[in-house]
Amino acid sequence: MRLFFLFIIIITITNLSLIKGQQPYIGLGTVACPRRGNAKSIRGYTCNGLNHSCQAYLTFRSQPLYSSVSTISSLLNSDPSQLALINSVSLNDTFEPNTLVIVPVNCSCASEYYQSNTSYVYHNAETYFLIANNTFQGLTTCQAMMHQNANLSNLYPGRQLAVPLRCACPTKNQTLKGVRYLLSYLVDWGDSVSFISQMFNVTTQITLDANSLTMSSFIYPFTTILVPLHDKPLKLRTSSPSSQPPSSSDSSSTDKSSKKTWVYVVVGVVGAFALIFVTCAVIFFTHTRKTKRKQEVVAVSKSFEAIEKPQGKIMEQESGKLSEIIASIAQSFKVYDFEELERATDNFSTSCLIKGSVYRGVINGDLAAIKKVEGDISKEIQVLNKVNHSNVIRLSGVSFYQGQWYLVYEYAANGALSEWIYMDNVDGKFLSWRQRIQIALDVATGLDYLHSFTSPSYIHKDLKCSNILLDSELRAKVANFSLARSVEGENGQFPMTRHIVGTRGYMAPEYLENGVVSTKIDVYAFGVLVLEILTGKEVAEILNEDDNNNKGFSNALSIILSEESGKERVKEFMYASLHGNYPSELATVVIGMIHNCVEKEPENRPQMQEIVASLSRILNSSLNWETSVSISASQSF
Ligand SMILES: *[C@@H]1O[C@H](CO)[C@@H](O)[C@H](O)[C@H]1NC(C)=O
Ligand SMILES: *[C@@H]1O[C@H](CO)[C@@H](O)[C@H](O)[C@H]1NC(C)=O
Ligand SMILES: *[C@@H]1O[C@H](CO)[C@@H](O)[C@H](O)[C@H]1NC(C)=O
Ligand SMILES: *[C@@H]1O[C@H](CO)[C@@H](O)[C@H](O)[C@H]1NC(C)=O
Ligand SMILES: *[C@@H]1O[C@H](CO)[C@@H](O)[C@H](O)[C@H]1NC(C)=O
Ligand SMILES: *[C@@H]1O[C@H](CO)[C@@H](O)[C@H](O)[C@H]1NC(C)=O
Ligand SMILES: *[C@@H]1O[C@H](CO)[C@@H](O)[C@H](O)[C@H]1NC(C)=O
Ligand SMILES: *[C@@H]1O[C@H](CO)[C@@H](O)[C@H](O)[C@H]1NC(C)=O
Repeated sequence: MRLFFLFIIIITITNLSLIKGQQPYIGLGTVACPRRGNAKSIRGYTCNGLNHSCQAYLTFRSQPLYSSVSTISSLLNSDPSQLALINSVSLNDTFEPNTLVIVPVNCSCASEYYQSNTSYVYHNAETYFLIANNTFQGLTTCQAMMHQNANLSNLYPGRQLAVPLRCACPTKNQTLKGVRYLLSYLVDWGDSVSFISQMFNVTTQITLDANSLTMSSFIYPFTTILVPLHDKPLKLRTSSPSSQPPSSSDSSSTDKSSKKTWVYVVVGVVGAFALIFVTCAVIFFTHTRKTKRKQEVVAVSKSFEAIEKPQGKIMEQESGKLSEIIASIAQSFKVYDFEELERATDNFSTSCLIKGSVYRGVINGDLAAIKKVEGDISKEIQVLNKVNHSNVIRLSGVSFYQGQWYLVYEYAANGALSEWIYMDNVDGKFLSWRQRIQIALDVATGLDYLHSFTSPSYIHKDLKCSNILLDSELRAKVANFSLARSVEGENGQFPMTRHIVGTRGYMAPEYLENGVVSTKIDVYAFGVLVLEILTGKEVAEILNEDDNNNKGFSNALSIILSEESGKERVKEFMYASLHGNYPSELATVVIGMIHNCVEKEPENRPQMQEIVASLSRILNSSLNWETSVSISASQSF
């Protein structure tokens, strides 16, 4: 839930920059590590100044490894005595943690971009992103570092890397307005342009202009913003903006504090909308399923509790998590330019629409499925980040643009399984017995992987035909991890949940009744899935009931499969769906397996691992059966 807000925050923060000032603000582009080019000055500020080189200033926040005049000046290649002078400290001084330090540097134009050169010795297990963001705090970008060190074939400990720090020289226009220096200020949580401008005694407008920003633009932590200075900066009056408790304490009337809380206010408003949305969704779900009214109440009151929390606090607590997620996105997935996706999908034209909000696109010559997502993508990203298996759909990249996330997946040429099995041979879409068993085995293998071979293990929680995709060879891949969760829970193996979500007919009784979550709820859903695959009928139709009572509904399946008449009924559906072409004895074995999967007591259901083993044997026998059928068929002619 909390993560959800954070994503709303990020997606709401859009890059509204006009080409009016001189150095466009970098925005969240730093996160998109593999992105090349210099869109929005990501690699550096363009050499558009009056002079080729100049004196410039940076800000840096003292951190454990870099807290003294000497360590900071050597990291950033600054003159220590000047640095000491400007910050009114002595040469051998150490700063308090998180003090905003002003760093004088020589800035000059290297071909296209201004930069201040420094170097960094590579340690083990670092990435360009970690060096740029965590060590240099955003004073350089991974893109700029990659570009500058392009001649390095590999990174190894002890290797010296060139680090171009972001600086700029005043333009002619700025010079005419009396600007003599530009300071690259590192944005921190809770900063606003007006707050930063006041800190350096310049007008908000001149700062906005310098960065091609407008009053309604957003700025992000760990990016730089240029502050045009008339004079050399003095020791800052506020020792460190970030050492003040954010928002809650200084909510008094001054203009400054109201500006400063602007970001928090946005978080609050958007968060409230998000809550209302989520609340409605929860009510909708619980309503349609007629589950306990108590849960509804719990969910709603929880929501209000969250609204009442001071928003600044939420931001503060979650900032770490947010950064983690952004970093994990950048490091694990390609971050696409939105324009790239537009090109790939012909501007998201209807001709490229696969279904719902999923589009087909061609990226670098390869087909991809591009899903527009509103809201929380964190679950899906967390799961797919850790997963690499041929029976689990692969997420290749993400993009965000104007409040929307776009997830780019490998393309499954034959679409969703649901389009194949509920049709009676429409468009020649027919799956043979062997193909159906193969698909069941693929799904079981994918689930077994999620349950047993990822760490922590994951539960899909929303297994159903429409969430299984088929590739060009009709091999199955498990998709849609938006409800997935890890097993690591409060009660160890059996965490509980208040929010009952999932799809009717696929939900295990213990989950519906008590919210018990374990891998066995996937096993239950898998049983239902196989039943549907083999009969081509939705489970409700097999049960022949229009039962709104879920409790009865989920037990009914177990009961019906334990009766001979029920098994016969299932076989009749199989016969119809497979046009009589199926091995009757194997079908009995599979029905037995399905029955085990939908047992009322979770501990009586098999592990996915056992299902994989048994389906492998069934597939083997099915191949033999298929061969024998085709031989006898050819003999009869
Ligand atoms: C630009 O260079 C000229 C001399 O070439 C110098 O007088 C002036 O101060 C420089 N301007 C800046 C902003 O550094
Ligand atoms: C910056 O430039 C000045 C003169 O151009 C030079 O004296 C000084 O050493 C330079 N500082 C650094 C850190 O290179
Ligand atoms: C800095 O070092 C000098 C000697 O090198 C010493 O006299 C002085 O007290 C030191 N200052 C601080 C603040 O430690
Ligand atoms: C900084 O580094 C770049 C790239 O290596 C180089 O082109 C430029 O001349 C350097 N600038 C200075 C002032 O040394
Ligand atoms: C960027 O670095 C800062 C420290 O400079 C850290 O707090 C933050 O988590 C990092 N952000 C990401 C996305 O890693
Ligand atoms: C790589 O480039 C850096 C500066 O861009 C230069 O100092 C270094 O010598 C180059 N290394 C090789 C192996 O060419
Ligand atoms: C400089 O200012 C003039 C008028 O104020 C404007 O037309 C021009 O675009 C500005 N140039 C730059 C590079 O910002
Ligand atoms: C702020 O700048 C104005 C001129 O822009 C100047 O008159 C004033 O003294 C400055 N205040 C401080 C505290 O530097």
